[in-house]
Amino acid sequence: MTAKQINAGILGTGYYLPEKILSNSDLEKIVDTSDEWITERTGIKERRIAADDVATSDLALKAAEMALKDAKVSPDELDLIIVATLTSDRIIPSTACIIQDLLGAKRAAAFDLSAACSGFAYGITVASQFIQCGAYRKALVIGAETLSKYINWEDRNTCVLFGDGAGAAVLGQVEDGYGILSFDLGSDGSGGDAIQIPSSGSRMPVSNESIEKRLNLIHMNGKEVFKFAVKAMGNTVKHSLEKIGMKQEEINWLVPHQANIRIIQSAAKRLAMPMEKVIVNIQKYGNMSAACIPIALAEAAAEKRFKKGDIIALSGFGAGLTWASCIIRWSKED
Ligand code: ACO
Repeated sequence: MTAKQINAGILGTGYYLPEKILSNSDLEKIVDTSDEWITERTGIKERRIAADDVATSDLALKAAEMALKDAKVSPDELDLIIVATLTSDRIIPSTACIIQDLLGAKRAAAFDLSAACSGFAYGITVASQFIQCGAYRKALVIGAETLSKYINWEDRNTCVLFGDGAGAAVLGQVEDGYGILSFDLGSDGSGGDAIQIPSSGSRMPVSNESIEKRLNLIHMNGKEVFKFAVKAMGNTVKHSLEKIGMKQEEINWLVPHQANIRIIQSAAKRLAMPMEKVIVNIQKYGNMSAACIPIALAEAAAEKRFKKGDIIALSGFGAGLTWASCIIRWSKED
């Protein structure tokens, strides 16, 4: 006889954004760009920028505290903390361990997860496995970034796109038929050069020379990523739906990674979803990599847009290349 699988779902969500707003007109003063170009080509109007003395864990902690409060879970109940980020405070220790200490989550295992913009969907998938098999009861998954620290402010191809922020979710057991119903995770490392920080690790340690050449900052082939993204975002949701025999029409809300409004619109079209069912906040925050999906989710939840029983599809893509989606039946009462 096999043990009955436990249903893992989201018990609470939270988010935090730094106060400083950088608008498109502010950027016009830094690089050769215009509000019109950025708005038309990306949908972004402004983004948030962390102060010089603020690190990723500072944003992550505030999002985590809000999620724990929303879930009515105390830090000492946590068995696991996962921080999805590409901008960890340091290479070691992990940002998850910093959060574990700051929260006083004495029983929790903690590690960082590196899947760039797909990181939060990867993270809740990983955490849900521990809950579903009964090994852990409560997990905290955070997507947090301070991408502004890795931006080349002389490169108009990238500096207009990114921002800083953090979102979090507490996972635990939910009633039968609710929670994370399905997931799809994928990767294609052959596309790794399309988004990279060339001088950031053992291949090319940061040096005076690499800093001079700006190789310690984000480099991106926007066109390549665009082509990949428009297919990946819709396809991964279709794969998640296929696994549980669910139809596209059954999705109430799409919560996509917020890299470019044109990519989001194209994913919605592939899934035959009207834009009213798509959670979009790219105009306010830009691309915050792993933080985009949890912030969009938490903000929509705080605005009481989700009803108990709603089917929510999370869909992300990013550096790696990676992609990930989850289908969730929302279990919280509004
Ligand atoms: N302002 C004004 N002009 C600009 C700017 C700017 N900020 N940036 C580029 N341009 C110019 C280019 O130089 C080019 O000029 P040219 O024709 O004279 O050479 C022209 O605008 C068109 O450039 P394209 O690159 O063709 O513009 P495109 O429509 O492809 O938009 C963009 C570029 C926004 C980057 C788009 O390709 C995109 O969104 N790609 C996907 C990025 C993404 O999803 N990243 C997510 C992963 S990030 C992660 O994992 C951390």
